[in-house]
Amino acid sequence: MKLDDQICYCFHVPLRKLTSFARRTRPVRASQMSECLGAGTGCGWCIPILKKIHAECMREQSFEEGESVAGLPETADEYAAARQSYLKSGNEKNRF
Ligand code: FES
Repeated sequence: MKLDDQICYCFHVPLRKLTSFARRTRPVRASQMSECLGAGTGCGWCIPILKKIHAECMREQSFEEGESVAGLPETADEYAAARQSYLKSGNEKNRF
């Protein structure tokens, strides 16, 4: 996925915003990632990814264009399709 691809579809938050937020504010807990434009406070789909972004930023990983966060799908289309499956499944909402 690219830095401008959306991670949180509910609040239209791209990877770039989330990584900048994590680097700038150094949140202690992953749940504080929701302070970035409300990411993760809607359907909950993106919460596991927000946790990965938080963990990698805390390890001082860089996110250059073309790099991927471990565990993220390769493309935005794959990510969007996985979210559609999540929404259709009706499974319990992801939580921080
Ligand atoms: S996609 Fe982030 S809360 Fe729904």
